[in-house]
Amino acid sequence: MNGDVPLHGWSEGHARLAGALAERIAAHLRSIPLGRTPTVDDVAGLAAITVDGLGVDAALALVDEELLPNNVGLDHPRFLAYIPAAPATTAALFDAVVGAWSFSGESWQEAGGAVAAEEAALSWLLTLTGMPAGSGGCFVSGGSIANVAGLAVARDAWRQRHGSAAPMAVATAPSAHSSLHMAARLLDLRVVEVPGDDRGRLTGAALREVLDDDDTIGAVAATAGATNTGVVDDLAGVADACAEHDLWLHVDAAYGGGALVLPELAHLFTGIDGAASIVIDPHKWLFSPLDCAAILYRDRERAAGTHRQAAAYLDAFGREHVNPSDLAPHLTRRARGLPFWFALVVHGTATVERAVRSSIEHARRAADLVTDAGPPLRLVMDPELSVVLFERDGWSRADWDRWSAQALADGVAFVTPTRWQGRDVGRLVFVHPDTDIAAVAELIDRAAAG
Ligand SMILES: Cc1ncc(COP(=O)(O)O)c(C=O)c1O
Repeated sequence: MNGDVPLHGWSEGHARLAGALAERIAAHLRSIPLGRTPTVDDVAGLAAITVDGLGVDAALALVDEELLPNNVGLDHPRFLAYIPAAPATTAALFDAVVGAWSFSGESWQEAGGAVAAEEAALSWLLTLTGMPAGSGGCFVSGGSIANVAGLAVARDAWRQRHGSAAPMAVATAPSAHSSLHMAARLLDLRVVEVPGDDRGRLTGAALREVLDDDDTIGAVAATAGATNTGVVDDLAGVADACAEHDLWLHVDAAYGGGALVLPELAHLFTGIDGAASIVIDPHKWLFSPLDCAAILYRDRERAAGTHRQAAAYLDAFGREHVNPSDLAPHLTRRARGLPFWFALVVHGTATVERAVRSSIEHARRAADLVTDAGPPLRLVMDPELSVVLFERDGWSRADWDRWSAQALADGVAFVTPTRWQGRDVGRLVFVHPDTDIAAVAELIDRAAAG
């Protein structure tokens, strides 16, 4: 293959490139590599942008030699750090369609088909939350921007009631994700830290004490599935307190929202239907490829009042249909909900439910392995969702970092430690249904052996 392909249109060279890319995609999905973290030198060749272009062959060689091998596989079943992703193969393949078509997912007028499919996926998420008629949302790039979008509407609602200069605070607990603090900074909201319970959760009781003393609190940000621990705030108690004080309840279920599909865990989410805004990231625990996060609003029209952009030429969009650009800080947008929609259509929701349940089972199995190993290992807390924290007598952060680096170097898994109540601890996060429990046992054995 040579580089002599036109910028647009279709040629023999494009046909061969399509085949070459399809081969690589198939090889990746057949056997996802755990990967590696490169040095700067390993990837220096990627700075190969020239005036005349290298041509397709040379560009593909760079892709093979430097781009693809120098990443850790977030989609690998043994990526157990941070919050992994486990895109359905069908969804990952369908993502190529989203790129090739350039659907203009901002308006019904331009991309009614894509918007209708995304609306179907959003409506399934809304059903899981129990939000009423009149609710709606859109897909954005991640939980972070979804938190900004939700709190921006909360701030407008507050200002409409109290005047545009009224200062506003948002109450959260230690369980809140860092992006909530970022969102508060961007929106000029003061953060009131409510003391968490022994698991760091926001509870209705602790929230009430704070609310009684501070009448500038206009919103409460609860977390359903804390990133660090997987614990779910006392949503029922928090929702009651918000209803009593007529406050905006924002629930960050970016990670934990996947567990809404499990009837056996429904008790953890009681109260979520009282939220004014909810974040759920299908790219975390609902098997969508990156990047796909949903911001859901109880009152879609109110959200449009905050986010809709006005310009003479935008009137052509019309108002009779949904325009996703009205519901978050974006105008042009990738129809990033489509791969998620496609997998839901192909596999059905029962398959998704089973896949989420397997992560819960993996987490419980991992917790049992730690408990069975006994000292020097100790479980920090019983896993509520699919995050497992465990500690080891005598280990400092340097020991945990060594454990992490060695596991990746040996191809066992990608794991990273964290801190819990001032202590350095091991952390395992499960979202991939094909996670190999033997590798988890190996990680735990290595920590026990020291
Ligand atoms: C609870 C929670 N909220 C928000 C986020 C931010 O999401 P994103 O990384 O998609 O921006 C995360 C990320 O892990 C999360 O776990």
